Amino acid sequence: MTDQRSYIPEHVAIIMDGNGRWASQRGLPRFEGHRRGVEALRRTITAAEDLGIRFLTVYSFSSENWRRPVTEIAELMGLLRRFIRNDLADLHARNVRIRVIGVNDGLSADIIALLDEAEKLTSANTGLTFVVAFNYGSRREIADAFRSIACEIADGSLAPADITEELIASRLNTVDIPDPDLVVRTSGEQRLSNFLLWQSSYSELVFSPVLWPDFGQDALMAAIDAYRVRDRRFGGLSAAIGGSR
Ligand code: IPE
Ligand code: IPE
Ligand code: MG
Repeated sequence: MTDQRSYIPEHVAIIMDGNGRWASQRGLPRFEGHRRGVEALRRTITAAEDLGIRFLTVYSFSSENWRRPVTEIAELMGLLRRFIRNDLADLHARNVRIRVIGVNDGLSADIIALLDEAEKLTSANTGLTFVVAFNYGSRREIADAFRSIACEIADGSLAPADITEELIASRLNTVDIPDPDLVVRTSGEQRLSNFLLWQSSYSELVFSPVLWPDFGQDALMAAIDAYRVRDRRFGGLSAAIGGSR
């Protein structure tokens, strides 16, 4: 009999979308959608732990989200601040390891300090790895990786022939994090919006109609159920007709 757990993806990455629409459907300010989105995030982290998922990545602020009104940006920054202040000790007690991907440019000093504290405090934890993509954009991440490689070629410590897929992956923010098996986007939108473009080359994509503030264990299970019946071929043959996977 097949072990149910063998169907659980090792790494689930989520584009948490639809907070604004959730709020406007209820005649509430967008902030209320973002606030309820934090509650959905708490439920989702717990559900991921319960399912035995090893890596959970969430897209919480994109490099393009700076295009939003300053008041909304301030609200999103405030929610991140509060989330770390309120939840860090509890996540640490649950053995969760926090990783942050993205850049510091534009972030206030106290946010940078909080993100650093969260990573440092939990760095030796061995439970769920919770990856927060904050002020993250894939193209910038790839450009930064190329710049670091170019500098080493310029100073002679690396040769052009050394540029391999593994080398590039090792210069991304996600070094030591396996590629996502499953990328979920909520709210019915069907695009990646500059999220993990390199890393999701062979991820299964599931588009959930659920608006992020309504997300939780049931919606996560529905996404995993959709993933379970996919045939991941990685360019080879289907396992069903004798492929190696
Ligand atoms: C996701 O919800 C939260 C962030 C992008 C920070 P949105 O704020 O994008 O909600 P919609 O897409 O406008 O409904
Ligand atoms: C993607 O959602 C970014 C996050 C969820 C943090 P957006 O709502 O910003 O994406 P677009 O603008 O609809 O593509
Ligand atoms: Mg959106």
